[in-house]
Amino acid sequence: MSMKKIRLTYGLAVVGSILTAVFLLFPTLSAKTPFSKQEPDSENCGVCHEDMAKIFQLTPHAANSCITCHDNPDTHLEEGGGPNIFAFAAEDLANEKSQKCLTCHSIDHARFFASPHGKSSMDCTSCHVIHMEKTMPALLKTSALKTCNICHQDVFAQFQLNERHRLQEGILTCSTCHNPHEPATRERLGGFKQESCLTCHTDKGGPFLYEHEASRIEGCTSCHEVHGSSNRHMLTHQSTADLCFSCHGVAPDWHSRFDPYSTNCTVCHATIHGSNLSKIFLK
Ligand code: HEC
Ligand code: HEC
Ligand code: HEC
Ligand code: HEC
Ligand code: HEC
Ligand code: HEC
Ligand code: HEC
Ligand code: HEC
Ligand code: HEC
Ligand code: HEC
Repeated sequence: MSMKKIRLTYGLAVVGSILTAVFLLFPTLSAKTPFSKQEPDSENCGVCHEDMAKIFQLTPHAANSCITCHDNPDTHLEEGGGPNIFAFAAEDLANEKSQKCLTCHSIDHARFFASPHGKSSMDCTSCHVIHMEKTMPALLKTSALKTCNICHQDVFAQFQLNERHRLQEGILTCSTCHNPHEPATRERLGGFKQESCLTCHTDKGGPFLYEHEASRIEGCTSCHEVHGSSNRHMLTHQSTADLCFSCHGVAPDWHSRFDPYSTNCTVCHATIHGSNLSKIFLK
């Protein structure tokens, strides 16, 4: 630490102690001059929460005052501590906790309350941590993948099946396709536009002269599982014929000689995602 910084810290500590002394000696005075009007900085709290204030300086929120998150500190200061200040405690309402963060983060995360997580009484601190010297990227409590798996173990299990996206290898993460802050309904994810899939599978989106309208129904997920599956190409059905006949009641008569278990319809209907040459996806 430089001399200048030491002197500054020392100076602020002295000022802090004097302020505390004033608060302790003249509770009525402090009651009349609300803390929030004095534009305090973290050093005011650091007098008593020394270690926390020190670690806080190493976090991305260092430039923010403690009271941007822990507001209404007046009683706390008058009484020299105690459970009388907003502390993101377990018993605090989830909405109230998130609202503190959203005073600043509402530009990017305003729809949080409409997300499945916001609706399930989770709040920002369910996944993020503020007071920690070393955190994962994005202030997560643990790695991004582990964060999701705490609650979605069933989904993680799908990524263990033999046909799957390579999540464990780090090629994708859950948030490649899902934004945990957004209202990410099935419709939106599996919807017609498929943006989240087409960023990588660019060839599957066309534009095609002859589009397989199956995609219009639910998009890629009308034929594919997306996390993983035991079926080839992560198809929703083990037999391709069963998949096709789940939508197509009829095919030309001569197709009846095909055995659903031995016929792979895509041997002939090879451009199953769409084609510029064949209306029936033969080439
Ligand atoms: C960006 C918001 C934010 C800021 C700014 C902030 N805190 Fe916190 N604080 C939290 C959250 C959230 C918790 C709950 C525990 C956690 O998630 O880390 C918390 C918990 C605490 C606790 C309780 C710790 C415990 O173990 O129960 C103390 C004490 C505290 N903060 C002091 C401070 C001090 C002092 C400062 C300024 C140096 C500060 N905080 C700045 C968000 C903040
Ligand atoms: C005069 C000393 C003192 C000052 C100044 C002080 N605190 Fe505290 N604070 C304490 C004590 C003592 C506790 C209770 C013991 C503990 O949990 O560490 C406490 C607890 C807390 C808690 C946890 C409350 C809970 O319900 O668990 C938070 C959050 C907190 N302080 C934030 C702040 C902030 C923000 C400031 C500055 C505005 C501040 N403190 C200033 C002494 C102080
Ligand atoms: C007073 C405004 C303010 C409040 C309140 C606030 N933040 Fe932030 N937050 C910021 C700023 C500024 C940054 C830094 C942005 C940057 O570096 O680009 C930030 C960064 C972050 C980051 C990204 C860190 C990174 O490494 O990318 C996360 C996550 C975050 N805040 C979560 C929270 C949570 C959770 C809360 C509530 C407990 C909260 N913030 C409250 C202003 C705030
Ligand atoms: C279900 C867990 C979860 C919850 C709840 C959550 N986040 Fe996040 N957040 C994440 C993950 C995971 C990332 C990293 C995203 C990535 O990998 O790109 C992230 C990233 C961020 C970032 C940094 C980059 C970005 O995408 O903007 C900010 C800021 C942030 N979250 C703020 C918040 C706030 C504010 C809340 C509450 C309103 C919140 N988060 C609730 C999991 C969560
Ligand atoms: C603390 C538990 C918890 C954590 C951690 C968590 N979730 Fe969730 N998640 C839920 C709950 C509860 C729901 C809403 C109920 C449901 O649909 O299962 C939900 C819903 C979802 C949904 C919507 C499901 C649907 O049917 O539309 C997605 C997608 C999702 N979570 C992804 C994630 C991702 C990605 C992460 C990691 C960044 C994550 N979750 C972390 C608990 C959690
Ligand atoms: C390749 C993109 C992709 C990745 C990576 C991905 N998902 Fe999904 N996820 C989707 C799509 C698309 C759906 C909608 C599926 C449907 O409607 O049939 C979905 C559905 C869900 C659902 C609700 C339906 C269900 O199966 O319960 C949850 C919860 C979920 N994902 C969580 C996660 C978690 C947690 C991870 C990381 C371990 C993850 N997802 C990784 C694309 C993805
Ligand atoms: C980040 C890039 C990325 C995104 C986004 C993505 N994928 Fe993939 N996908 C891959 C890669 C790479 C493979 C190759 C399999 C491997 O990892 O070995 C793959 C494999 C597949 C396969 C199996 C291919 C085969 O040969 O068996 C299907 C089906 C698939 N993805 C569908 C989807 C769908 C549907 C979505 C959207 C919900 C999606 N993908 C989003 C990168 C991505
Ligand atoms: C009508 C059902 C159907 C729809 C809708 C569909 N697929 Fe497929 N997809 C298949 C079939 C069947 C195969 C296997 C083809 C084969 O047998 O060679 C396949 C194979 C794949 C493969 C691996 C083989 C290759 O050609 O690379 C990927 C990747 C893929 N699909 C991605 C997607 C994406 C992304 C979407 C959404 C834009 C999508 N699929 C929509 C039926 C479909
Ligand atoms: C999710 C439903 C769905 C699935 C699964 C599906 N299709 Fe389709 N397919 C359609 C729709 C919708 C059309 C547009 C014409 C119609 O309504 O029949 C279409 C059109 C076609 C056409 C163009 C000729 C025509 O009838 O207009 C062929 C050929 C075709 N599908 C073959 C297949 C094959 C082969 C499979 C299996 C690999 C398959 N389809 C799976 C929904 C589906
Ligand atoms: C040996 C190649 C071949 C195989 C295998 C095949 N098809 Fe076809 N299919 C064709 C040809 C060629 C046509 C167009 C000729 C006709 O209408 O008789 C056609 C036409 C169709 C049509 C009607 C298109 C229209 O004009 O409306 C559907 C639906 C269809 N096939 C579905 C399937 C399904 C489902 C399977 C798997 C059980 C399958 N096909 C297997 C070659 C094949």
